[in-house]
Amino acid sequence: MRRFAASLTLAAAALVLAAFAQPQWRWDLPPGVAPPAVPADNPMSAAKVELGRRLFYDGDLSADGTVGCFNCHGQHRGFTESNAVHPGVKGAPGRRNAMMLGNVAYLSALTWADPTQRTLETQVLTPLMGEHPVEMGMKGQEAELVRRLSADACYRRQFAEAFPGEAGAIDPPHVAKAIAAFERTLVSFGSDYDKGVLSEAAKRGQGVFAKAGCATCHAGRLFTDADAADPLTAFHRIEPADAADPGLSEITGKAQDTGRFRTPSLRNVALSSPYLHDGSARTLADAIRRHEGASDIGDAQMADLTAFLGALTDQGFVTDPKLGLPKTRCGKPL
Ligand code: HEC
Ligand code: HEC
Repeated sequence: MRRFAASLTLAAAALVLAAFAQPQWRWDLPPGVAPPAVPADNPMSAAKVELGRRLFYDGDLSADGTVGCFNCHGQHRGFTESNAVHPGVKGAPGRRNAMMLGNVAYLSALTWADPTQRTLETQVLTPLMGEHPVEMGMKGQEAELVRRLSADACYRRQFAEAFPGEAGAIDPPHVAKAIAAFERTLVSFGSDYDKGVLSEAAKRGQGVFAKAGCATCHAGRLFTDADAADPLTAFHRIEPADAADPGLSEITGKAQDTGRFRTPSLRNVALSSPYLHDGSARTLADAIRRHEGASDIGDAQMADLTAFLGALTDQGFVTDPKLGLPKTRCGKPL
């Protein structure tokens, strides 16, 4: 009996130890904001997030070593970048404007116009392997990717720690899982708006935002409706469709979806010029006036509106060293 009790205690201790060995991720979130959902087959861990972060900042994930996720998703611009569209490897032409990654873990509809992109794990494979456009150009290069990563002793250790008990985890699906785990840490709820410190102009702008109905699409705390259970509700046509990009209809094949794009979040939007799916609007005022029905917003109201959008910038998020280029590798300074 005593031995049984002792083994129970041991079992309990082992459980506690296991819990410590695989700590759940703790998000630093303001009151009222729930952590994002995490898929059961890709639990969070500090080791996995650190691996994902290293992969996010590694150009070696591309065919010629020149294009990493961070080249198009730069932290200081809210994980976007300054070109209308950014070329992929070997100058392959880009197609659409890079998107802001803050709070992407909360979205059920990812990318500008593809409602089949529902999870971060699958989305990663698009820049990595996609051919329309070619971004990182690794289609057909899977073995080369495995070879490159496996050649690095620190990567071998990091994959083993991130995926304990999964021998041979260095492959594209696990690369995607680790990057997705890192992306789930990109939360941005620390703006002046969240802190409730708005300038007088920003307060007036908040009124314009409400009155003009902007929140029908740029809804709630995420400033997008892309978190709905039905992803198709997040695609809208804000201006007459142009021939250059069919938008949602490219995937659905339905004529009425031509020119519909997913509502982008407006968080950190002041940092992410140029705007719209093709980067064709240089300023916030340009982007706003492109919405049908917004052309009558006067200059004074527009200044207030852009002051309000400016209050959605989260300085902590775009300068947080934990989300930036890693400074150490397997404990050694770089
Ligand atoms: C060459 C530039 C480029 C590179 C490299 C790139 N992206 Fe992107 N990213 C984009 C563009 C452009 C879009 C929008 C694509 C579209 O809608 O057609 C996008 C969209 C996204 C989205 C969707 C965001 C949202 O709000 O729906 C995520 C997530 C993302 N990228 C993550 C990544 C990750 C992770 C990597 C590295 C594996 C990466 N990207 C590499 C340009 C790039
Ligand atoms: C019917 C839904 C809808 C409404 C209402 C709406 N938007 Fe948008 N907004 C969108 C969509 C969709 C896009 C992307 C369109 C594209 O890329 O072609 C967008 C793009 C933007 C952008 C550019 C963001 C970026 O990252 O490129 C800004 C800024 C913006 N909207 C602000 C506003 C403001 C301010 C209002 C109110 C005056 C408003 N929107 C009303 C759906 C809407």
